[in-house]
Amino acid sequence: MNSIISPRGAAAPIPRRRLRAPRLLALTALVAPLAMAQTAVRIDLSKPGVPVSPTLYGLMTEEINYSYDGGLYAELVRNRAFKDDDKTPAHWSVVQDAGGSAAIALDQRYPVAATALTTSLRLDAARASQGHRVGIANAGYWGIPVKPNTRYRASFYAKTAGAGGVPLTVSIEGGDGKTVYAQAEGGRIDGEWKRYSVTLTTGAKVKPTADARLVIATESPGTVWFNQVSLFPPTYQDRPNGNRVDLMQKLVDMKPAFLRFPGGNYLEGETVATRFKWKETLGPIEQRPGHRGTWGYRSSDGMGLLEFLEWCEDMKAEPLLAVFAGYALHGETILGGPALQPFVQEALDEIEYVTGDVSTKWGAQRAKDGHPAPFKLRYVEIGNEDGFDKQKTYDGRYAQFHDAIKAKYPQLKLISTVNGKDWVGSQQKLTSRVPDLVDEHYYYNVMEMLNDAARYDSYERSGPKVFIGEWAAREGEPTTNLYSALADAAFMAGMERNADVVEMACYAPLLVNANPGGMQWKSDLIGYDVQSSYGSPSYHMQKMFRNYLGNVSLPVHAEKVSTQSWQRPASKETPLELPPVTQVPTMFFSATKSDQRGEIYLKVVNSIGSAQTVKVDLAGAARVAAEGKAIVLGSAQKEDTNTLAEPTKVVPVTSKASGLGKRFSYSFAPYSVTVLVLSTK
Ligand code: AHR
Repeated sequence: MNSIISPRGAAAPIPRRRLRAPRLLALTALVAPLAMAQTAVRIDLSKPGVPVSPTLYGLMTEEINYSYDGGLYAELVRNRAFKDDDKTPAHWSVVQDAGGSAAIALDQRYPVAATALTTSLRLDAARASQGHRVGIANAGYWGIPVKPNTRYRASFYAKTAGAGGVPLTVSIEGGDGKTVYAQAEGGRIDGEWKRYSVTLTTGAKVKPTADARLVIATESPGTVWFNQVSLFPPTYQDRPNGNRVDLMQKLVDMKPAFLRFPGGNYLEGETVATRFKWKETLGPIEQRPGHRGTWGYRSSDGMGLLEFLEWCEDMKAEPLLAVFAGYALHGETILGGPALQPFVQEALDEIEYVTGDVSTKWGAQRAKDGHPAPFKLRYVEIGNEDGFDKQKTYDGRYAQFHDAIKAKYPQLKLISTVNGKDWVGSQQKLTSRVPDLVDEHYYYNVMEMLNDAARYDSYERSGPKVFIGEWAAREGEPTTNLYSALADAAFMAGMERNADVVEMACYAPLLVNANPGGMQWKSDLIGYDVQSSYGSPSYHMQKMFRNYLGNVSLPVHAEKVSTQSWQRPASKETPLELPPVTQVPTMFFSATKSDQRGEIYLKVVNSIGSAQTVKVDLAGAARVAAEGKAIVLGSAQKEDTNTLAEPTKVVPVTSKASGLGKRFSYSFAPYSVTVLVLSTK
């Protein structure tokens, strides 16, 4: 029994796939000391190979680990609409300088008309005068990032008790209020709600720091109400309400073919009422009520449906849209039939919002929201992990969605979340309809993943294609270490060898705020605080695989692969087919070619702490150049990792490789993954 830290319950046990003995159709396992025999790999170029799906590698995302609020979504103010806690103004504090005296409190008496802004923050400035300012302060998501020569856009709604007018200043200043990094007059506030906006620009000499806060202050006594207090730094491609530049760049660099959104558990909601209600995430941000997510905090919904789509656009990735299918995380289920129909309609409307032209109701809404051009959509997933539905209603629910969507959008490929061969989804069977793809999820420790890296070598070919919608080796936190990256690489090599059945895959979770309290899921790909970000070893490995994917997967046959004994921990559920001590291979291979570039990519994982030499035979190759390139990700210790403090400790190194040819021997470094680029020109 594996455990996943999930809102299904702390360390909720996940019923696991049945572990099998290593299935190495392509690998012949040897229980042998390493020195005994040399591993040999034969890549058969006389065979046509199988096309690699151009959508093989994408990204998966949801609001978890402060992925959007406090992460990718560039808003810097935490709890901007004062709804995070209905009793206290969480993340806000009162400013009382030099004898000024004031108090702050939530106030629900004065909603901003015609908006979703129902709770405001009241500042009662009892004593304030020149040099004795009072105000409200927000320290963001573990700080506000101050950088030199940077323009920030601050905005807020405000009103006073009377028409008299209270002047405000807006500043980004040090945590102790002593250093002012940027300041502007906020305007004279009167008795009606109005939106005010100012630009704050830091000077050239400002030293970068996260020890800063946003302050809106006055030197006049009186009462001021605030709502939707917002502060944005420059965003990726300058999109209003946009994304953080460094994180977007890291994602763009992965060249993802698709983005699976909005979840994950976040799609489902803890209850049906708190599912991702896409219609409530549209339009100006003041129209979005926000909602409680599934990972213990509220979402502002600043990252709404259109923002997800524009995020795809910015990455040149296609959306893989998951629609709510009537099952919520804590077990609430809408039975198939008339009760489910409104949810089916909600999904149809959502697809129309994404793809419809402006003559359609929801296409017109998208145009009104600022994006007249429809988005390309080819994949729709029905639900998330419906194998957990104890009432086993997915078959009927899926059929209802399937029929309605295929009737209106026959071109769409539909993805089922159950009927994977032997993961959690297999607890339910889908018999009424045949989906185009099945979403399988795998969260493993390193040895489990190495042990199962060849799972698709013996996968049933006659069923739907596979979408591995979530997967990861889970050692190292908040982002995983080199050992996990090696196991991930072994698993990806398996995906590439089986490109005929694995059509799409995306690792999860993608993002984690590395501050204490920022992480809910312990193994993530990209870590950050408000100032900077870094990729885990697996992030770099995945970029290597993406950059050298090729368009054809070549048959690989490996022999004399050494193995290591793996004693499964006693606490694990007794696997049905696996003895307590298992022999797990220590090398993993995939070979692909790019017809366009005239290159062959041999990917090799060495999961142990000593170098291993491999005899490579490129059978049937017309020509292979003696010189090529080796891109190697490795380190001395398998626990080595990247962090905010050491962001590039484990990164790939590219060097010239020589002595290559149709037949050659190559030594692969300890604890490494290597892409050998072989030129056939
Ligand atoms: O990736 C974290 C969670 O794992 C996802 O939200 C859910 O689908 C799975 O259980």
